[in-house]
This record gives sequence, structure tokens and C-alpha cells, in this order.
Amino acid sequence: MTGVALVVGGAGFIGSALVRLLATRGPVRVLDDLSTGRREHLDGVAGVDLRVGSMLDPADVAAAVDGAGVVFSLACLGVRHSLARPVENHEVNATGVLRLLEAARRAGVDRLVHTSTSEVYGTAQRVPMDEDHPPWPHTVYGGSKLCGEAHVRAYHRTYGLPTVVLRPFNAYGPRSHHEGDSGEVIPKFLVRARNGLPPIVFGDGSQTRDFTYVEDTAHAIAAAATAPGAVGATLNVGSGTEVSVLDLAARVTAAAGRPDLRPDFAPPRPGDVLRLVADSSAATRLLGWRPTVGLDEGLARLVAWHRDAGTDWAAALTEDRARNWELVG
Ligand SMILES: NC(=O)c1ccc[n+]([C@@H]2O[C@H](COP(=O)([O-])OP(=O)(O)OC[C@H]3O[C@@H](n4cnc5c(N)ncnc54)[C@H](O)[C@@H]3O)[C@@H](O)[C@H]2O)c1
Repeated sequence: MTGVALVVGGAGFIGSALVRLLATRGPVRVLDDLSTGRREHLDGVAGVDLRVGSMLDPADVAAAVDGAGVVFSLACLGVRHSLARPVENHEVNATGVLRLLEAARRAGVDRLVHTSTSEVYGTAQRVPMDEDHPPWPHTVYGGSKLCGEAHVRAYHRTYGLPTVVLRPFNAYGPRSHHEGDSGEVIPKFLVRARNGLPPIVFGDGSQTRDFTYVEDTAHAIAAAATAPGAVGATLNVGSGTEVSVLDLAARVTAAAGRPDLRPDFAPPRPGDVLRLVADSSAATRLLGWRPTVGLDEGLARLVAWHRDAGTDWAAALTEDRARNWELVG
């Protein structure tokens, strides 16, 4: 592979973990509009050229792709955002990907690795879910991500662009979002527990997810850039371990040192997926990838990372919004 690695969305949660990994290997360029990402996520990482700009702006994208070898496509607007602002969400997750593909095709990049999501499947109809599981997204986020990955496959088929599509299941770890509509379940539970507040569980807590530590997710994405047999593939990236939200609440409160906290229950979230569990054997076969960090170990690492970072838990709580899919302002 030649040229600089370009990470679009590299100031975000998974993107910054990927940039940290890639920066140990060579120069990295980031294109990010900092809408949900943060400049500080790349603090202390040497050799990163951060360009603040939008994937929706053809000039920003063309300049970012110029001279790039591998392009990593991670920019997105999230699932709760899609419930309040569906059209804007589709614009980034589908049309933005199309703009990036077109720039990558014109520039003749070596490879484009696209990060889709397990949300394209909707609730599991059978488990574990392999890549042939029917895609039946519940939300515009899932629909727009499915559209984005379809464009990636189309560019491979039609124009011969060397592409790989990955479908990570839920990721967690350092720099995950607790705030606003970006807030994810693990950091939200953690912020509340560290403030002495019970986790809020929407529905009865029997819905399940498959969690992967973010460094494992980043390793899968990086491996997809070089694995010889991966071009044209669509691959799940998950742990294969199914955990209910109720069980998760107990594990997070325990990791936070507050096992005494019992959940508060609230009505279900609109569009919530009820069951997810990955079969990632194709990623193991084609990328040589396996998750290495179990959930309890990952939660302990996350708590330790916050301790070292000196997280202000009271300030974090002010940024948390319980019903974070509802439009504000
Ligand atoms: N977090 C998860 O559990 C998870 C699970 C499955 C898949 N994914 C996928 O992984 C990718 C990264 O997710 P994340 O959790 O790190 O999200 P994130 O919100 O932390 O990162 C997305 C980044 O994209 C940037 N961005 C948004 N719109 C942009 C635009 N128009 N131009 C340039 N940059 C823009 C944001 O500022 C942010 O830095 C996404 O494609 C997401 O769909 C995430």
C-alpha cells in the first residue's frame, strides 16, 4: 500500500482508536467536520494531519483523498440522531459515502474500507447472525447505512474500486459518547453510576447486544486495509457473545464500584432492536481477526482509562440526556 492513510470521521469514537493504531505504522490524514467528533480525541497522537471539513463538500473530499493510499470511511450521524432528523442523517450516511466513493474512484486509491453497522440487520431472525442474515433495518440510521454500504459494493462491481465493507456490532471503550443524542448505553450507565444514580433501562431489559472493545474493532478495520482476500467482502465484526441490557446494567454498575444500584425502568425506545449477536467467522477467515478483550475486562479498562484521564463525572452528567432520541431546541 502506498500513500497516506485517510480516515474520514477520524476524530470520532472508533475513528480515533483507528487513527491511534494506524499512526504507529505511518502518516495519517483525518477528514472530520467535528460535528460529534472532538479534536482532543487525537491529542498526543504524532503524525496526524487533521483537516476540518465535511464529507458532503466535494472540494473538502477531493483535497482529503488526494495522495491517499487507503481510505477508511467512518463518518456518520448516529441512530438516535436519525429518529429526530432522518433526512439529514441519510444525507451523511448514504449520500456522503457516495461522494467519498466518487472522489476515491477519481483518485485511484489502493483500497476503501467502509464501516457499516449491525443495525442494517434489525432484530435477529436467527442467531448467530452471519452476513447472509436478511437486512431489515428498524431505523433511518440502519436504512441509510445499508444504502451507504450498497453504494460501496456497487463501486466495487461497476468500477472495480477495491473495497471492503465491515459491519461492527456495538463498540465501547475510551472516548465513547455519553453526551446528547450520541450517547451510547455503556457510557450512559457509567456516567450515572459514577454519580450515584441507577441505570435507566428502556423496556424490560431483555433486549440483547454483542459488545466489542473498541481497540478490537479498530484492529479489524485496519486488517481490512491489507488482507489480500478481503476485497469485495462484507464482514461482521462482533464478539459473538450475547448480553442482555439488564445483565449489562449489572456489569457496568459493578465495574463502576456501585453494584448496589438497581435499574429504573422506562417505556421502550422507538425502533429499538431487540436481539443482536454476531457470527464473525468470515472476518476470522479473511482478516485473521478475533476479538481479544472480554466484556468485564473491557469495562475495567474503560473505568481505569477514565481514572487516568481525570474524568469530571458531575460535568459528564450535565451532558447526558435520558431520552436522547427526542428533538431538542
Ligand atoms: N459506535 C458503535 O458502537 C458502532 C457500531 C457499529 C458501527 N459503527 C459505525 O462506525 C463508524 C464510527 O462510529 P462512531 O461510534 O465512532 O461515531 P462518532 O459519531 O464518534 O464518529 C463519527 C465521526 O464522523 C464525523 N462526521 C459526521 N458527519 C461528518 C461529515 N459530514 N463530514 C466529516 N465528518 C463527519 C463526526 O464529527 C465524528 O467524528 C460509523 O460509520 C458508525 O456507523 C459504530
